[in-house]
Amino acid sequence: MSADIAAITGAAHAQMLGLGVCRPRRVVPNVDLTSAIDSSDEWIQTRSGIRQRRFAEAAENVITMGVSAGQRAISASGIGVGDIDCVIMATSTHLYQTPAAAPQVAHQLNIRGAAAFDVSAGCAGFCHALALAADMVRAGSAGHVLVIGAEKLSDNMDPTDRSTAFIFADGAGAVVVGPSRTPKIGPVVWGSDGSQSHAIRQEPSWGEFRSDPTIERPAVRMEGTAVFRWAPFTMAPVARKALDKAGVTIDQLDAFIPHQANMRITEAMARSLKIPAHVAIARDITEAGNTSAASVPLAIDTLIRGGEARAGGIALLIAFGAGLSYAAQVVALPEICSDLPVHN
Ligand code: UT7
Repeated sequence: MSADIAAITGAAHAQMLGLGVCRPRRVVPNVDLTSAIDSSDEWIQTRSGIRQRRFAEAAENVITMGVSAGQRAISASGIGVGDIDCVIMATSTHLYQTPAAAPQVAHQLNIRGAAAFDVSAGCAGFCHALALAADMVRAGSAGHVLVIGAEKLSDNMDPTDRSTAFIFADGAGAVVVGPSRTPKIGPVVWGSDGSQSHAIRQEPSWGEFRSDPTIERPAVRMEGTAVFRWAPFTMAPVARKALDKAGVTIDQLDAFIPHQANMRITEAMARSLKIPAHVAIARDITEAGNTSAASVPLAIDTLIRGGEARAGGIALLIAFGAGLSYAAQVVALPEICSDLPVHN
């Protein structure tokens, strides 16, 4: 027997329709963290650009924050929950290895029967999930995809670790990706370098922790200087390639929105790429810290809400982190949610 399998066809193009965020209410200034790491507000601001961050409450987690951000993204996109065929959650801080967070988020949003799964690509997770969603819409495997980046890093940090305790923070951001008449999500440029998997890692493993109850519970560890050296120099060519593939020149950009890893990394990339003065640069890290997979959508929200960028503006997104992994794409910015609050 032989049979022809039906071909699938999707939308001609994809776009981000609407964006929603969830910023935890609890603001944590640098001074609240310095005594545990023998640091100072001045050192943290100078070395990272961070003035404050937000930590979620004990009852909040990536699911509750993902639901809030998702609800706001759906509201901003103007579609109904019944139109969403897939939910992709980018996170490294869901505290269960199984089941994934996305099916629970879908359920709580009344998105019934949709495909739902998590992706783990560290701080580059949102840009990976966005690329998957755009390809799914264009290929025809989903009509609309809810993409969420959500992290509760405060659960996974050692508050006495000088390399991480002041950097990482909590939050969530989400977009609805759907069909478009014109290209609004450019080709992704992505990759990884597993030879540097040690640079940002969980330590110890759950296996080591189980076999030796005297060792500290697992936490995120970072070889900050190694990542600091890698990111600006390796990511600038990736950013240029994303622009080339999209057929967009740097002076045609309205915004440059890198993962909010460290203000000095953002500034070094902007210098290396020769970002023109008229292009808005995301500097959300000052108030939000490094929220890993949530940082790019949170930074988009801040730029649009603050009037520095607008829905429909052309932006270069680039994210990088644990893996090491990275992803970049040129996009048209989505509408943001203006009728619901940004805090839980
Ligand atoms: O989001 C995923 C990707 N992550 C990143 O991209 C993060 C990349 N890395 C970084 O952001 C930076 O490496 C850090 C902000 C984490 C650290 O900054 P740094 O400039 O690389 O500091 P360092 O580790 O080279 O340390 C410089 C000095 C040292 O003192 P001496 O030897 O010069 O006297 C450290 O002991 O600063 C000292 N130091 C601190 N001082 C106060 C290290 N950490 C601290 C601290 N507070 N927390």
